[in-house]
Amino acid sequence: MQRKTVSDLGAAELRGRRVLVRVDFNVPLDGTTVTDDTRIRAAMPTIALLRDHGARVVLVSHLGRPKAKVEPKYSLAAIVPAVAAALGAPVQWCADTVGPVAVAATKALKDGEVLLLENSRFLPGEEKNDEALAQQMAELGDVYVNDAFGAAHRAHASTAGVAQFLRPAVAGLLMKRELEYLGAALEKPRRPFIAILGGSKISGKIDVIEALLPKVDGLLIGGAMACTFYKAMDFETGTSLVEPDRVDLARSLVERAAFRLTLPHDAMVAVSMDQPKAAHAVKRDAIPAGEAMFDIGPDSCASYARAISVAKTIVWNGPMGVFEKPPFDAGTNAVARAMAEATASGATTIVGGGDSAAAVEQAGLAPRMSHVSTGGGASLEFLEGKALPGVECLDAREGM
Ligand code: 3PG
Repeated sequence: MQRKTVSDLGAAELRGRRVLVRVDFNVPLDGTTVTDDTRIRAAMPTIALLRDHGARVVLVSHLGRPKAKVEPKYSLAAIVPAVAAALGAPVQWCADTVGPVAVAATKALKDGEVLLLENSRFLPGEEKNDEALAQQMAELGDVYVNDAFGAAHRAHASTAGVAQFLRPAVAGLLMKRELEYLGAALEKPRRPFIAILGGSKISGKIDVIEALLPKVDGLLIGGAMACTFYKAMDFETGTSLVEPDRVDLARSLVERAAFRLTLPHDAMVAVSMDQPKAAHAVKRDAIPAGEAMFDIGPDSCASYARAISVAKTIVWNGPMGVFEKPPFDAGTNAVARAMAEATASGATTIVGGGDSAAAVEQAGLAPRMSHVSTGGGASLEFLEGKALPGVECLDAREGM
């Protein structure tokens, strides 16, 4: 079912009205400095549209995982300058999230002004999706916009509960773009459609492997999770990270997937990831007993790049190796480069959030992808076919 978006609201529904916008400003901080403002910039189109229509914008977000109480290191006060810089306009600050002071601050806004509230996770009811808190949040606006795709898999008071008490409740432009790209890839992909899944553990990716296998023409595996598959194939895995309790599952996946599942043919191994100079490539059935796989090998880089070059839709989630530590970034960079070239040749390339998004950003290739998701867990759950509470709670788009 399609959801109403902020573009479906008329000027009359926005001018002079307080619009409560749930954003995902869960950004990395070094002390009080924002080290990556991607998520802040990603929310700007929605905020700009609202301001253009004379709305009074009230922003609410979480930051980090405070334990339902005030923890100063997670105060959103630190990001006010970064939000103002992205906006090119002043941003007002309120040290409360709900209650009389916060409501008064929203009511004092003039058309086009922007207010940022304190971290929603300082409140005990947020993660419990407490109804009374959701009701209090509803008093902060006349309209609710959810633009926090990154938090849409959480059924919290600010991401879902509030919509019970505040209508219209619509998707923001970032949310819309995320759902369109990921949704189109799953529902009507241009073929060949391939998925590339990496990361250290198969356990976190089982649901997405199961969900994607029937849909894709090829599923390429990378990262340490390849070793659990190797174990299932009775290969020596040395000191690589293997999940012994998932070996049977890996075997069953290999059998069921047949030719659609590709495992790396070779691996970059070393005694330790802190000894990069000793890294060397081996065939996948020749991992030395005292060494571990830290990246896919050069043959796999080449064959994965070839598979990407002939695909028309490519979805990627999870790095191919320890990309923070060269030379174990080679596999991840090879996939990122091949995807950038595929985009230029007309393919639709989608990078799931989290580590693979960080890697693409680090390689300077983010602008050369069709879409880089701002959601890590959220994009994974969407690809798993799960309903996202932050989307389900929004108004349905009639006639769709
Ligand atoms: C994220 O960083 O993936 C989102 O902001 C959600 O954060 P959470 O995993 O702490 O709910």
